[in-house]
Amino acid sequence: MEFVLDATKVQSLIETHAGKVDSLIDSYAEKKEQLIALLQDIQTEFNYLPRDVLVKVSQRLDIPLSQIFGVATFFRAFSLKPRGRHLVTVCLGTACHIRGGHRLVDKMERDYDLKSGETTDDLRFTLEAVNCLGCCALGPVVVVDGKYESQMNPDKLDRVLRSYK
Ligand code: FES
Repeated sequence: MEFVLDATKVQSLIETHAGKVDSLIDSYAEKKEQLIALLQDIQTEFNYLPRDVLVKVSQRLDIPLSQIFGVATFFRAFSLKPRGRHLVTVCLGTACHIRGGHRLVDKMERDYDLKSGETTDDLRFTLEAVNCLGCCALGPVVVVDGKYESQMNPDKLDRVLRSYK
């Protein structure tokens, strides 16, 4: 299932940041060649690249929208879909799976109505499942915003996630 954030919430998010985004775009007026840096700054602001903001970049800096989308889709670090404030990565590699990694994904689905690749409606969490994080002896492993949590179980995951607002 493709996650689609409510359009009103997206618009409100963009409007809240409008002044800051305009200044940000204008600060690149004399350095259009630094498009990647501008997109990084926009993603830092929103946690993803909202289409309306990319249209604004195109209009204000006179850069073809196709070029902007070309860059935005080329680099894996950019996301055109809303992402949560916190990225939760659950390992479902063999070692983690046999120790119960799938129960963690089930819990995310049950508690947050979230499948891998999706984001909660309040933009709190984005969930991704991966095949191995390279530390199998610590499994099941979950990484939240880059912080590794070892020997996870559903209750421990619950406690960890409660501290991420
Ligand atoms: S299988 Fe999970 S870290 Fe390797």
